[in-house]
Amino acid sequence: MGGKETDPAYEEVFSPEQMTRIRSEYDRLKGLCYLDQAGSALYSKSHLEGAFADLQSNVYSNPHSNNTTSKLCSDSIDQVRYRILHHFNTDVEKYSVIFTGSATESIKLLAQSFEWRNDTVQGSHGQCGQFVYTEDNHTSILGMRSLVSQRGASVRCLDHEEALSIFSSSENGFNPESPANGLSSERPTNSLFVYSGQCNFSGVKYPLSWIADVHNGVLNDRSNWYVLLDATSLISTDVLNLSKVSPDFVCVSFYKIFGYPTGLGALLVKNSSHHVLKRNYYGGGTVLVALSAVNEYVPRPAIHESFEDGTLNFISIIGLLHAFDAMKETIIEYTLLSRHCFHLARYLFQSLARLHHSNGSPAVVLYADTAYDDAASQGGIVNFNMLRANGEHIGFAEVLHMANVHDIQLRTGCFCNPGACRRHLGLSTEDVRRHFQAGHVCGDENDIIDGRPTGSVRVSFGVFNTKHDVDHLLGVLGKCFVHQPAVHKWPSNWQKRLENLRSKFNKKPTKSQRENADSQNCNDKDQTQDSGRIRNHNLHAISRVEYPIFSEPTPPAVIWKGVDKSNSNLVFTNGRYDRQWMITNQSGVALTQKSEPLLCLLQPFIDEANNRLRLSFEGQPDITVPLNLDVERGDGNYSFCQSKVCGDRIRGNDCGDDVGIWLSNALHKPGLRLIRQLPDDNRTNKKSLG
Ligand SMILES: Cc1ncc(COP(=O)(O)O)c(C=O)c1O
Repeated sequence: MGGKETDPAYEEVFSPEQMTRIRSEYDRLKGLCYLDQAGSALYSKSHLEGAFADLQSNVYSNPHSNNTTSKLCSDSIDQVRYRILHHFNTDVEKYSVIFTGSATESIKLLAQSFEWRNDTVQGSHGQCGQFVYTEDNHTSILGMRSLVSQRGASVRCLDHEEALSIFSSSENGFNPESPANGLSSERPTNSLFVYSGQCNFSGVKYPLSWIADVHNGVLNDRSNWYVLLDATSLISTDVLNLSKVSPDFVCVSFYKIFGYPTGLGALLVKNSSHHVLKRNYYGGGTVLVALSAVNEYVPRPAIHESFEDGTLNFISIIGLLHAFDAMKETIIEYTLLSRHCFHLARYLFQSLARLHHSNGSPAVVLYADTAYDDAASQGGIVNFNMLRANGEHIGFAEVLHMANVHDIQLRTGCFCNPGACRRHLGLSTEDVRRHFQAGHVCGDENDIIDGRPTGSVRVSFGVFNTKHDVDHLLGVLGKCFVHQPAVHKWPSNWQKRLENLRSKFNKKPTKSQRENADSQNCNDKDQTQDSGRIRNHNLHAISRVEYPIFSEPTPPAVIWKGVDKSNSNLVFTNGRYDRQWMITNQSGVALTQKSEPLLCLLQPFIDEANNRLRLSFEGQPDITVPLNLDVERGDGNYSFCQSKVCGDRIRGNDCGDDVGIWLSNALHKPGLRLIRQLPDDNRTNKKSLG
């Protein structure tokens, strides 16, 4: 195979001048390859400079105080509200901005306030509406279920296929002028449909036309239907045009767009829908009057005023103005940002699809919902797991550690989206339960159970990323996890997979897509079958080591999973010394492999014959310390100390200056100490799950 048209596609979206500007805005990244935009965006230099210059030259005070500085503050906050609405192509006539602490808080506020009964209807007999959500939702949405069912709503989950089938049958189009989008004062109940504008697992952008479909009764026409659009992931790198679509509620989080400020979100409420919200709490400036001796109060009339409890996070809110300004000056147009991220994602997606081991077996399994055809349906996210040459999965924790060692920041696990994770990994609800019973919890590094992955690797792009970042990642994945020489070819079933993905959303492939895909398939013939496990493989990944040193969370995870000891370059036949040492930093805090990736290059060996623990680290001579420090002797060389590992207090002995200095040199951190756990400390027993 050859020919340019078959290479992974990449298109530069920003002009060279814009790229120069972007580089200077994020020059603090230096060599760091940050691939976790969906986790949090990064603030730019001029954003911070603008915000701090503003705060240093103006006096802002509590917006409820009514003095001059307070007035300046509340006027500035109003400016920010206008600016947010302008960003979403709407205005105060149509939407209100309720500031919250996060997207999650916005979601909770809605769950607490949504009225499931339409009390204007006579004889409604207290009936409540339905809460319907798609399975690919963030845990923040899943958390609504108990609240809404306590308040009377019935709950229904639409799995991915079901949702696609319901909405593909709908012929409705959006009519922004239609009076109440199908609302009727005759219907006895109010119902809420919730979905995500962009899945934070796969990056698929779910059609915004679903909003009008729901309003027009695609779910049923017995209730008044409202829509909450979780736009948190979508607007991180895309625009949401509220003059074209009209969700009743939109939750957003600002650190996902700008990186700073954190702890600030908003619930956008369509003014014509706010009547379905009823407060059951008030506090701070949300009331016109509150009587202290009797429970009477009158809420403020403006929608945001009656929902923003307490004093607003006014300093952070004012900082947002500068965030919008800086972003606009840097990228000019948001559509460029979404295309930029999409093109990086497509390039990575296609390059990973082409990555194969020397025996021809695929090195990557990709979890995708689209064929990465366009930025309208796919965001800047790629989700995958690496495979060994024999087809076995490589745990995501291994990939995370190698990425950390190479200055690549990505995210692994399930990304707080258990529905999408379950579906893409092909797990049943029962499998997820079993994984939990086997000790796997969200966020841990229990990455493979019974040979199957419990999560995956997610790469997500922001304005500051370049093709160079993708090439760096591909280089590291190739070097560490692909048996060389790597083979780059389109998989045999590639065209079919793309067609399947396209048909999900009823999209016909364009002529150029068809032609391109055909040419990608021309190499199918040389696809070789997996030839079984390559035993003496030449991977650059550090083999998993059963560390006797406390270094949470990986080593215990490795031991829990009973990793094949022949794979380990440290053999502990009886586990006698497992997890009995830890390394602490200057402040006495135990290092973890998460906080200090270089730990995985530190090799411990037990030399029982000579009663020594030997440590080795590439580039410096080995060092040894006695296996058994005799504390009771109190010979003065070793001092007693305490630290915490994963919340457990550990009592141990400091192994002395020599090894401390040796560790500091190896790990490039001053003040490190090696601590040996006291024999009577019971933590090892607690963690020894075998
Ligand atoms: C789709 C989606 N919804 C909601 C949230 C929660 O946002 P926050 O951290 O602001 O509570 C996230 C965060 O990752 C998300 O990706």
